[in-house]
Amino acid sequence: MSLKRNILDLRKRKSEVLKGGGDKAIEKQVEMGKMTARDRILSIVDEGSFHEYDMFVEHVARDFDMDKKVLHGDGVIIGTATIYGSPVCLFAQDFTVAGGSLGLMHARKITKIMDHSLKMRVPLIGINDSGGARIQEGVDSLAGYGEIFFRNTLASGVIPQLSVILGPCAGGAVYSPALTDFVFVVDNISKMFITGPGVIKTVLGEEISMEELGGAKVHAEVTGNAHFYAASEKECFEQIKKLITYIPWNNTQKARRFEPKEPTVKTKIEEIVPADPKQPYDIRDIIKSITDGSEFFEIMEHFAPNIVIGFGRMNGDTVGFVANQPKYLAGVLDCDSSDKAARFIRYCDAFNIPIITLEDLPGYLPGVDQEHAGVIRHGAKILYAYSEATVPKITVIIRKAYGGGYIAMNSRHLRADFVFAWPTAEIAVMGPEGAANIVFRKEIDEAENPEAMRQQKIQEYKDKFANPYVAAARGYIDEIIEPQDTRRLLLHALQVSANKAISGPNKKHGIPPF
Ligand code: HXC
Repeated sequence: MSLKRNILDLRKRKSEVLKGGGDKAIEKQVEMGKMTARDRILSIVDEGSFHEYDMFVEHVARDFDMDKKVLHGDGVIIGTATIYGSPVCLFAQDFTVAGGSLGLMHARKITKIMDHSLKMRVPLIGINDSGGARIQEGVDSLAGYGEIFFRNTLASGVIPQLSVILGPCAGGAVYSPALTDFVFVVDNISKMFITGPGVIKTVLGEEISMEELGGAKVHAEVTGNAHFYAASEKECFEQIKKLITYIPWNNTQKARRFEPKEPTVKTKIEEIVPADPKQPYDIRDIIKSITDGSEFFEIMEHFAPNIVIGFGRMNGDTVGFVANQPKYLAGVLDCDSSDKAARFIRYCDAFNIPIITLEDLPGYLPGVDQEHAGVIRHGAKILYAYSEATVPKITVIIRKAYGGGYIAMNSRHLRADFVFAWPTAEIAVMGPEGAANIVFRKEIDEAENPEAMRQQKIQEYKDKFANPYVAAARGYIDEIIEPQDTRRLLLHALQVSANKAISGPNKKHGIPPF
């Protein structure tokens, strides 16, 4: 064959593979409001940068007439590309080919690109759209999942791993996304569950739709399995690209530096927090009055909103924000908000991202529900994560810092590098009302006018403890600052901590309260 004919033959073969599962299956995919696997990859990466590998891989199943079936690329597309000029590895399951089900060779393609991403120290983006373990391939499918989970764990904390759920992700398949750093879901398209509606009906006799069981909203709001929720695939791809600008390519690097910008919001920072400590406000307004260009990229926005986490930039560099949200449940810590914050703190620590903590909380949420849900174990995660983190850690106490909440929110005692407090800060074992009721109960009960006595004792307690000066007198906070100086001081603290280097005792690993 001449070179020209060879090239024509190659092109013909490639165009066959590019047909995926065929026109009918692609039509069905589009009807469901879904893009095809290749189009999804092309929508995320820089134009013309995608290189696909293992295009001609075929399945090796022989049972159940599988030997008569051609499954193009075995239902998954893998390759490398660039996003904003930096390399990434990607895979995308192709639902049009055998429902994107995972058999031996399908799994081998995924593990090949995973190995590549770990070896090359570049992020891995996995697009999941699959009926799960390929039923005809039995234990080979299960082995394939196991190989993926192992690699997810190995790569954890070394390279960023992003999972995009753009279709079903059922059964054990959900555990790969769960082991990765960030999970993206899209309204009406993403479905994640261990046991589907069919099994639930058979075993429990309960009817439930896939959407109600494990749709995008469920994972963004209720389970906390998803970190980013989008209304469309297009919006989801924009979120992925944005996230990529905030994080480093691997754990030995820092995130890309951008041109520093001043905040752009008009409201003055000192006007955001109401004078009455019982009045709520949106902590995101404080964050936006601090960050470059007033930009804040929030993570897990719809789950446990009593804590806010996300990325912003300070003087051009990425910073992670962990902030109590007084607008929701007064910003208390509970099981979910502790999980949410702890995982994010560990992410920032693994990837060299300094953490700024903004504190205003009345403590941990009391109640039987929380106690029985394991608030002791979950609440301990945030203590562990902050104590363990060695990246620069800076705290600003804005208003309340009560009880365990004071300690947990990156206090000096967990080795914060800098602790600043606004003059409005109240640092004490508990709120004045509760404290007065307990400590002065006898005086209040025996007083001629118990209510007047109660108010007097509350005021006494407030004057004595509900301020930052007692903590400042012990050196637990470094400086009491005027609100308008917050950004300037944070920039200075970040500059001073840029080369922070500490190490703990030698150990294989700790045992966090998982
Ligand atoms: C083989 C599969 C498949 C699977 C789908 N297909 N899932 N083939 N193994 N797991 C095939 C279908 O036979 C069909 O092939 C094509 O993909 C499209 O599927 P449809 O059913 O027509 O699509 P749809 O109606 O959209 O339904 C999607 C679905 C459904 C809800 C995902 O296919 C489904 O319930 N699949 C099974 C899900 C499941 O239980 N998987 C196993 C989970 S257990 P044709 O040839 O007709 O086009 C598991 C264990 C892993 O994953 C454990 C790891 C630790």
